[in-house]
Amino acid sequence: MRTLVTGAAGFIGSRLAERLLDEGHAVRGIDRFSDFYSPARKRANADRLAGRDGFELVEGDLCEVGLDGTLDGVEVVFHLAAQPGVRTSWGAEFDLYLHDNVLATQRLLEAARQCGAERVVFASSSSIYGDAERYPTSEESTPQPISPYGVTKLAGEHLCRLYGRQFGLHTVVLRYFTIFGPGQRPDMAFARFIEAALEGRPLEVFGDGRQERDFTYVDDAVAATIAAGERGASGEVYNVAGGARASVLEVIDALQSALGRSLDARHEATAPGDVRQTGADTAKARRDLGFEPQVSLEHGLQLQVEARAPGAAASQDPVPGS
Ligand code: NAD
Ligand code: UGA
Repeated sequence: MRTLVTGAAGFIGSRLAERLLDEGHAVRGIDRFSDFYSPARKRANADRLAGRDGFELVEGDLCEVGLDGTLDGVEVVFHLAAQPGVRTSWGAEFDLYLHDNVLATQRLLEAARQCGAERVVFASSSSIYGDAERYPTSEESTPQPISPYGVTKLAGEHLCRLYGRQFGLHTVVLRYFTIFGPGQRPDMAFARFIEAALEGRPLEVFGDGRQERDFTYVDDAVAATIAAGERGASGEVYNVAGGARASVLEVIDALQSALGRSLDARHEATAPGDVRQTGADTAKARRDLGFEPQVSLEHGLQLQVEARAPGAAASQDPVPGS
């Protein structure tokens, strides 16, 4: 495939680009190196890709660059660029969410249909379900986001559907469920907990810590994404979730085991827009995309600790059941 990866310098996008190159696909990456978190981290991600055959980087904003040139010769678009983060999407910051998640998506879809791209895969989010109608949550559940971020990701999904309906553009929507692993964004729970633990600070737990997530290891999400680019059905929406369901308190237990020591936790107010539970029905992704998550919560957490601080994990032995 000749591919375009938007958000190629980000956490998941850089991993996706790396894997596409490993599999022999050509990758053009685009990123605006936004400062939601350290652009230096994104530069490091892009630098890792830069030396590789088949990779080229376009530095720019999807809302500003000439997309005809960017899409020239591209068969499959993986659209991961976004302003992420549930808790930061209230207040004045919402402008950024509109720009990066709605306007950028509309502009990309418009250019993709005009340039004749064969397929567009859109990275959506479990946050579109809000506090879901039922668990496990299937793709048919009514979307009812409870954060402004979730509203913008749902708007992106609707734009994909519209460009399919009106212009026959082949779009595939993936709803990722809380992705973790090496390189995780520094605002996310695992990354924040690991940093605090390594620096000897108490871990901040938002609310009672009994909220649950269907955590997904980054390479499992990437495998589903590549499969969606190869054979995702037109107009379809797929849950991509690792099945590693745990509460925040259980995650802290797993981190204590990985580090071989106990950690202090301090409870803070529940974050606005934080859903109580996510838990996906992934039957459709398993059937159509051959999705089969490989990495357990414990093993993935250990890999994330090791990538951040080699030697910090309690045991290098493979974790049973991973
Ligand atoms: P990230 O912030 O690490 O990566 C996103 C990248 O997009 C950044 O490098 C940013 O600079 C770039 N970008 C943003 N707006 C842009 C624009 N207008 N033009 C060009 N580049 C732009 O985030 P991530 O965690 O890797 O998330 C990737 C995608 O997956 C996002 O669409 C996010 O909404 C979605 N998602 C992530 C998770 C998760 O748990 N990380 C879960 C569900 C959905
Ligand atoms: C994550 C991503 O940040 C979103 O971009 C994504 O869209 C979403 O997953 C998704 O699945 O759709 P979230 O589930 O909030 O959002 O992921 P984390 O930031 O890792 O938080 C997980 C849980 O830990 C949340 O309940 C959060 O409140 C809690 N948390 C987080 C803490 O208790 N303390 C922290 O320091 C950080």
